[in-house]
Amino acid sequence: MRHPAVFAVLLLASSAVSVARAEDIAVETDNTLMLLKSVPGDTLKFVYYGPRLSDVDRRAMLDDHDPELVNYGYPVFGTTDGAPYAMQASHADGNQTLDLAVTAVRRGPDGSVDIDMHDRKYPFKVCLRYVPDRANDIIETWAEVSHSEDGPVRLHRFDSSFLPLEQGDVWVSRMHGDWASEAFLLEEPLRPGLLQIKTTDGVRNSHYARPEVMISLDGRPREDSGRVIGAALEWSGNFSLRFDTESRRVHRFFAGALAEPSHYTLAPDSVMVLPRVAYTFSSGGKGGVSRNFHRWARAGHVHGCDKPRDILLNSWEGVYLDIKEPVIEKMMADWADLGGELFVLDDGWFGVKYPRDVDNSSLGDWRTDTRKLPHGIDGLIRKARGRGLRFGLWIEPEFTNDPSELFEAHPDWVLRAAGRPLRYGRGGTQLLLDMTNPAVRSFAVNLVDSLLTAHPGIDYLKWDCNTFMLNYGSTYLADDRQTNVQFDYHRGLLDVLERVRAKYPDVVIQNCGGGGGRYNYGLMPYFDEFWVSDNTDAWQRLFIQWGASMFYPPSVMGQHVSASPSHQTGRVVPMKFRFDVAMTGRLGLEMLPSAMSGEERDFARAAIATYKELRPLMSSADLYRLHSPYGDSGVASLSYVAPGAADAVLFAYKVRHRQNMVIPRFRLAGLDRDALYSVTELNVWPGSKPRKPHGSVRSGAWLMDTGLRIDMPSEYSSAVFRISRVAGE
Ligand code: GLA
Repeated sequence: MRHPAVFAVLLLASSAVSVARAEDIAVETDNTLMLLKSVPGDTLKFVYYGPRLSDVDRRAMLDDHDPELVNYGYPVFGTTDGAPYAMQASHADGNQTLDLAVTAVRRGPDGSVDIDMHDRKYPFKVCLRYVPDRANDIIETWAEVSHSEDGPVRLHRFDSSFLPLEQGDVWVSRMHGDWASEAFLLEEPLRPGLLQIKTTDGVRNSHYARPEVMISLDGRPREDSGRVIGAALEWSGNFSLRFDTESRRVHRFFAGALAEPSHYTLAPDSVMVLPRVAYTFSSGGKGGVSRNFHRWARAGHVHGCDKPRDILLNSWEGVYLDIKEPVIEKMMADWADLGGELFVLDDGWFGVKYPRDVDNSSLGDWRTDTRKLPHGIDGLIRKARGRGLRFGLWIEPEFTNDPSELFEAHPDWVLRAAGRPLRYGRGGTQLLLDMTNPAVRSFAVNLVDSLLTAHPGIDYLKWDCNTFMLNYGSTYLADDRQTNVQFDYHRGLLDVLERVRAKYPDVVIQNCGGGGGRYNYGLMPYFDEFWVSDNTDAWQRLFIQWGASMFYPPSVMGQHVSASPSHQTGRVVPMKFRFDVAMTGRLGLEMLPSAMSGEERDFARAAIATYKELRPLMSSADLYRLHSPYGDSGVASLSYVAPGAADAVLFAYKVRHRQNMVIPRFRLAGLDRDALYSVTELNVWPGSKPRKPHGSVRSGAWLMDTGLRIDMPSEYSSAVFRISRVAGE
């Protein structure tokens, strides 16, 4: 796994600062370039981030730059120009200023660059690290802080990265939401002052604000054109993405773990590895940025991205906590009949002394409730196997309840603020375990280990997380380290995941955070997929999935067909629309299959078979978002185009409905203009005729310039068309 050892010890080479030679520092990818400069006797300077430059232009940027536009590479408090800063620290003797000078620049064979900066007075060091992924045009960067002062240093601000942006018609696209309404896309021009995107939830850092942002440099953001920077903070804890604009000419962008309300106390001779920020740049609009991130995700930044995802039935919305063995077995039988591949038993299966009948007990007591499942988990696994299904299980390893046997045995394992009554989350009883404590971390690792050892037939785990950090204190951390609890919780969580993955690289693990509350690139290297939202209403999912797709490949997004009326919104949506929406990601079902009519079942069976055919294409394809549901056209559409443009699939939906409304044409993108493509409608409702232009052949140029006219007569009309290059063309 690529996360550096989080508790590593560093020996500072030397605290004496020798003045570095002037050095141009270039971090390059196939299409982008980041330029920094270390000037003798001076601090690090940031010069440029954008498309690759010719040698002439690069030289000019470095030698002849506009001094107003060249910034500190990593501004710190106390000695730089008084402008907003990325780091502030109080030294062991109380001095609250930093003064960093470059002491070494190291280049790796992979194009990575490490820049060591030492304080001129104190044995305090910041190493800025840059790692390019050349092919995917991503540059990851972060800072590592260490010191060998006489006592601890307190860090009051510790951003991972700083990026100055020239002012102009700059816009910010970000995702904001709530439970069951995650990742709602917001776009606004950047103005002077402070725009801070942050979360203080403590555990699930992306229910509300998300830790990713796009910055459009050429005015109102567009999907297919304009220069856009994308930034994703790889961190599951509280974060801050901050645009701080005081002076004219530049916006200052900072990304990192949120330091407020407490400082971090850093012991001598230890390293604080700050979370990575992944940047990309594209001249091809937001779509270009998304495609870079999707490819990078598939290159290893989402776990197991090379494997196809099973089509699953999750028990939650079908039975909730009311698990009964015969009902579950019937669900599995029906699911196998529809062509399903995996059955996931959600919450409610565990708890012996305190059975999990309501969501207010039992977390931590991961023993099967044999009242509900007399033949245990193994009995279910046998039944699943007998039907040709794989089997998955829900867990929530970071939590317990009061009451639970775990809490009775280890009341000191939960986070708690000394001298304060406990504050409870979900169910009025849920408590967060203290992942700063190695014994608790081992408990979480052993939980997974013992489940997978006792039941080797478990192929999939849904790892949930359903409450905030409410008690800011740890009985494990020393009194003078209490303020480290938020940051160290997440380092502890990474340690747990690292150990789980070291032993179980092949078990599929879903990241769930009370819906879409916790997917981020800090965690996704350990998870195969994420649950996008507890809201499975297909219409609202169009908006939520659109927002999620800005940074994440849809093939790792859990998208389930659920009952109508929707349990969340009450909306009544036809089965076809529900499938057409869910099939753009990792398809699943979240309802009792027995609640479907015969016709719905026939459709579902055929749609699942179709999805199996499309899955290889969609898990490696480039996503082109065509019509935004957030826009004014009344429709939404997106397409997936295979590498080499031999194959594509178009999904189109009516998101608003009124009599005689004009439906725009669906113009594709990313095809080969000169090739001929056959156009085939998929997911046709039983007994209906395919719509025009089903069965026709069109050129790539026509499909992209003129586009398909698709009949969408009624509310919740939707369509899926496969666009395949005609053999021999
Ligand atoms: C969270 C998840 C749901 C379900 C429940 C179970 O809300 O997002 O999918 O697993 O927990 O309690």
